[in-house]
Amino acid sequence: MKIIIINGSQKSGESNTGIILNELNSLIRKEHKVINYVLGSKKIASELYKEIITGDVIVFAFPLYIDSIPSNALKMLIDIEDFLKKGGVQDIVMYAIINNGFYEGKQTRIAFEIIQNWCEHTGIRFGGGIGQGAGEMIGATKNMPLSKGPFNNLGRELKFLMEKIEVKETFETKYLSPCFPRFLWRFMAKHTFWHPMAYKNKLKKKDLIKRII
Ligand SMILES: Cc1cc2nc3c(=O)[nH]c(=O)nc-3n(C[C@H](O)[C@H](O)[C@H](O)COP(=O)(O)O)c2cc1C
Repeated sequence: MKIIIINGSQKSGESNTGIILNELNSLIRKEHKVINYVLGSKKIASELYKEIITGDVIVFAFPLYIDSIPSNALKMLIDIEDFLKKGGVQDIVMYAIINNGFYEGKQTRIAFEIIQNWCEHTGIRFGGGIGQGAGEMIGATKNMPLSKGPFNNLGRELKFLMEKIEVKETFETKYLSPCFPRFLWRFMAKHTFWHPMAYKNKLKKKDLIKRII
């Protein structure tokens, strides 16, 4: 089976999407052909679309941007749709993995609807997926194996996803939050992420709550 894996994060270096996909890659049996693409922020060559639609399965992973899809990944979907109009589509199943910054993975449901609608338009079968909350915490806890730390439910669902990929079966999308108390997550995000980022950008704590209008 040919599995195409697309990382739709716009980050040029390490991304939370990439960490999730590393785990997924580690679960894929050797007999499958796997092609990984990282979209980043560069322009996507049209050859890429031709290659993507030769897959038996596409795993499309991306971060949630304003309840939706990052612009580069959206552009890719629009271009693939145009491309498919010319040639039709074989039996391809697309699974999605969407991670978002807020605690609740349920925040990704609108983006999942967009992907599902796109699949209906193009004739690609939507296979279901995983919507994971507290995405930035994935990067912050990356030294902990996904199967053991606050994302052990994600580790388990990635294994389940892999079982479904193997047989090209569809399933109901799972929405996950970390196995970690919400108030602690907020505290940590403030002190280990937002405040240090503000200082790095020469801002003070109070600048973060300043109203622009
Ligand atoms: C421009 C922008 C818009 C975002 N919009 C949302 C959003 O609507 N909801 C949310 O929960 N997180 C949002 N986030 C947070 C990202 O989804 C989150 O940080 C994610 O883990 C980044 O993943 P990556 O490292 O794979 O790029 C946004 C981030 C950026 C930069």
